[in-house]
Amino acid sequence: MTAPIKHFLNTQDWTRAELDAVLDLAAKMKQHKLGDQLAGKSIALVFFNSSLRTRTSFELGAHQLGGKAIVLQPGKDAWPIEFEVGSVMDGEAEEHIAEVAQVLSRYVDMIGVRAFPKFQDWSVDREDRVLKGFARYATVPVINLETITHPCQELAHALALRERFGADLRGRKYVLTWTYHPKPLNTAVANSALTIATRLGMDVTLLCPTPDYVLDERYMDWAEANVAESGGSLTVSHDIESAYRDADVVYAKSWGAIPFFGRWDEEKPIREAHRHFMVDSAKMALTRNGVFSHCLPLRRNVKATDEVMDSPACIAIDEAENRLHVQKAVMAKLMRSRDA
Ligand code: CP
Repeated sequence: MTAPIKHFLNTQDWTRAELDAVLDLAAKMKQHKLGDQLAGKSIALVFFNSSLRTRTSFELGAHQLGGKAIVLQPGKDAWPIEFEVGSVMDGEAEEHIAEVAQVLSRYVDMIGVRAFPKFQDWSVDREDRVLKGFARYATVPVINLETITHPCQELAHALALRERFGADLRGRKYVLTWTYHPKPLNTAVANSALTIATRLGMDVTLLCPTPDYVLDERYMDWAEANVAESGGSLTVSHDIESAYRDADVVYAKSWGAIPFFGRWDEEKPIREAHRHFMVDSAKMALTRNGVFSHCLPLRRNVKATDEVMDSPACIAIDEAENRLHVQKAVMAKLMRSRDA
């Protein structure tokens, strides 16, 4: 019997030992950029949405390890894809995920997928059916490049925190703060930040304007399970001052409130009333000399001030750089386990 394919869809699917091993390898790769771990290997990077960091770091990362990356944008330079099983394909889609994933698997050794929610119906988007469709039909490992979670960002964030605080992050106060943005954004990075921060045993505060901005129960449940295992804690707060006080880490992200999914005009007034959640120096002064980060892209003076972004406390650029190193480590580990 063939072993199940090991994918990288969510950090929650990997053991803590596996995640630590990826972070250790990424730290080594940061020191020694070139290698041959992907010699003769290839990855298809399927982008349904825009990217600067993910695309650049994956293409470059594959190259630096002797491999080859091929970018595909369905609906632009590749055929539009159908994901519904049993669909009568008389609409826009020219081919089905069943063929797409199997054909790509005959060419390449890994498939990366970026597919954001459609922002109309959360009960549909939360099924993550594009990523799951690839994982279902592919016969090679699939990597999540951001769908409704962003596990590669989690690892880059974790590596940046390790670099500042050391490998043992237990007992650190971690604030995941909602910030204003003119549009309702994906909850993926917030889901991921909550997941990895609790996994690493930190004392996590989820700071958001109202209970409507609490994350989907799947990710709240993961966080609670992680806390039970790691010994950290999880608190939901709507009070800026107490949340920031004595924090070691402030991680900012904007996201749309799940109860208003698809009814964004109703959510807009709540969002607009909380522009003051922007990260600024006065809030950072409440922390315990804490660091600030964000996954990027970030709208300056909307999500965080210039002063915060340009301060020594800001580790967002380190985190962005770490995307390259952690993703190389993930690809190398996936290929190693496949060839073993
Ligand atoms: N953080 C992140 O994934 O950046 P991109 O959207 O530019 O890839």
